[in-house]
Amino acid sequence: MYQPAEDSELMVEFLPFVIRKEHSTSFLDMGCGSGIQSRAAIKAGIKEEEILAVDIDDEALEETAKLGVRTLKSDLFENVKEGEKFDLITFNPPYLPEDEHEKGMDTTGGKEGWEIIARFLHQAREHLSEKGKILLLFSSLTNREKVDSLIKENGFDQIVLAVQQQFQEELYLVILEKN
Ligand SMILES: C[S@@+](CC[C@H](N)C(=O)[O-])C[C@H]1O[C@@H](n2cnc3c(N)ncnc32)[C@H](O)[C@@H]1O
Repeated sequence: MYQPAEDSELMVEFLPFVIRKEHSTSFLDMGCGSGIQSRAAIKAGIKEEEILAVDIDDEALEETAKLGVRTLKSDLFENVKEGEKFDLITFNPPYLPEDEHEKGMDTTGGKEGWEIIARFLHQAREHLSEKGKILLLFSSLTNREKVDSLIKENGFDQIVLAVQQQFQEELYLVILEKN
């Protein structure tokens, strides 16, 4: 199971600012890992029953279920009910390119690094409510130009919320909305 790291913390820091408090928010924690984003969402006022946490890793789902949220084993949206829509979706995906040291399913996004993001963006639109928002994290190691073009191709506008310099990479946290 993915142990929360700088990327997780960056998302936790900004999550409360994108949660609209005036009405209930249905929230999808895609790739929930330890459940750190669901925990932050609950702290920011989202009710447990409004949260669906998805992962392909059983241990991650077991850990996140302890928060009292709904959990679902799924490869991205594969097992998410058709037509189920969310006001907010977070995804801190596996975003690193594969090499001989980097092979983990919690960190590696594919040969180039952006493949899981590409699949996610292709499926996400259908599960986002009209005014819904996606909070997505990626890195300079993911190929920013490619991710930018995937965002455009899939019909989203992007606002960059944060850029954080790390030892060997920059982390980008962006908000996406349907255009
Ligand atoms: C970088 S970790 C982020 C975990 C947690 N959300 C956080 O912020 O610390 C990525 C997570 O995505 C999950 N994951 C990887 N591929 C997936 C897929 N195809 N469908 C659903 N979850 C996936 C991994 O098991 C892992 O828990």
